[in-house]
Amino acid sequence: MFLIILTEITFFSCAPALYLPSKNDSEQSGISQDSLKIGRTLYINNCSSCHNLHLPQQYTKQNWDTILIIMKIKAKIDERKLNLIKNYLLVKSKK
Ligand code: HEC
Repeated sequence: MFLIILTEITFFSCAPALYLPSKNDSEQSGISQDSLKIGRTLYINNCSSCHNLHLPQQYTKQNWDTILIIMKIKAKIDERKLNLIKNYLLVKSKK
């Protein structure tokens, strides 16, 4: 029980920092808001089992491209999921 509470706290204390895709984000990137939201959920569900989630703005597009090639294998996800996650991350990547 204590562990569950602890996990929840950790989860929720991290979550707010991960941006929620806005209409503006969608217009700027040309990617639908729904698609970006799915990317966010997939990111949370597939990428937080081994380490804390890194913020999109921590890395440049080039960094993410390289990192995601490795993490796709670690997370055992298919191309479709990876692309949704990538789209979400790149909207706010470091410039
Ligand atoms: C099976 C465990 C595992 C999963 C799942 C996983 N990672 Fe990682 N990740 C690691 C390990 C281990 C490292 C650190 C060691 C390294 O750099 O190789 C790491 C490092 C990272 C880093 C830091 C890289 C750097 O050079 O600073 C990022 C960013 C990252 N992961 C993103 C992701 C994303 C995005 C996903 C989901 C697609 C993901 N990870 C899923 C194990 C995992």
